[in-house]
Amino acid sequence: MDKPLVVNSWNEWDPLEEIVVGIADNACYEPTEPGNRPAVRNHPDVPFPTGPKPPEAIERANEELAGLVALLESQGVTVRRPDPHDFSQPVRTPDFAVENQYCSVCPRDVMITLGNEIVEATMSRRARYFEYRPYRRLVYAYWNADPRVEWTTAPKPTMADDMYRQEFWEWPLEERHARMHSFEFCITQDEVVFDAADMSRFGRDVLVQESMTTNRAGIRWLKRHLEPRGFRVHPVHFPLDFFPSHIDCTFVPLRPGLVLTNPERPLREGEERMFLDNGWELVDAPQPTSTNEEMPRYCQSSKWLSMNVLSISPTKVICEEREKPLQELLDKLGFEVFTVPFRNVFEYGGSLHCATWDVRRRGTREDYFPHLSYEPLV
Ligand code: ARG
Repeated sequence: MDKPLVVNSWNEWDPLEEIVVGIADNACYEPTEPGNRPAVRNHPDVPFPTGPKPPEAIERANEELAGLVALLESQGVTVRRPDPHDFSQPVRTPDFAVENQYCSVCPRDVMITLGNEIVEATMSRRARYFEYRPYRRLVYAYWNADPRVEWTTAPKPTMADDMYRQEFWEWPLEERHARMHSFEFCITQDEVVFDAADMSRFGRDVLVQESMTTNRAGIRWLKRHLEPRGFRVHPVHFPLDFFPSHIDCTFVPLRPGLVLTNPERPLREGEERMFLDNGWELVDAPQPTSTNEEMPRYCQSSKWLSMNVLSISPTKVICEEREKPLQELLDKLGFEVFTVPFRNVFEYGGSLHCATWDVRRRGTREDYFPHLSYEPLV
């Protein structure tokens, strides 16, 4: 018998064995920069705070993260945590300067396991340029432990001014509506740019959302990198999401044949074909329990963090404590539903799926889309 693989995860739902859970230590408010205009919820005229987050806010988030860790461990999952990193340090490169960094609460945005390979994303924002650093010790440990582990860091973009389209932030709603079909957001197409959380894994098929954080060159790079490794990479679009970033509040696979969808963000026409032709069911999530106005003051994500669930297996899923309507739906769909409070984590960039990076799930590469017409790059 071969030794078990140290890094092995092909989809979002196989039985979970090892995962990294983020930590809020040393987190800072995200700075205003060409790729990001953070705003205080319901108070667009109040300046967004800068520098380190207050210790009480960090403690509250860490408590909830610890609750998630305890639940995962009680389910037999090995949990690892990132290394401390001083996010209050400014970053200066030959191409840009930014006054502080962000946090290590959302490994999902930076790191992705694609089979037996770990890929570090290019990232799209200056404050997140060095966000791979808190995970490097873990990456080295996995890489040293098993010669079958592949490790790739995607090309770092310059993040210079001309990588961004600053006018994006000024577009009035009608223009946004008109432009969404061309999928031009706050980054241009000249450099390879992607965040890991714009991907969703379905065995040999990987979806990539074109967004504010992933451009077409980024998707091309992923195709060229992954196709020779046996993957098929499918760009997807959600035209009604005017500020798209990260696919895991929009299109969330739960088990083979079932995706949780966002009723306010349908797929671009035609892109649902691969699912319908292959017997997949797309089930709309219920309305979240909070309106956008009721989300935490410094949280930059939408109310749809409600659907950012984390699968422990094809039959067990973790859901935020307050999201009762979603819990009921998942229960009806046959899942055993676990809950944890997580709202104090929201202002650090996400919920349960965002705050994790699964390194090992028991399973192999499957083809869940046997009826597919696919055009490889070469
Ligand atoms: N942009 C998403 C929304 O507001 C939030 C995505 C969070 N996901 C993540 N991996 N950080 O709906």
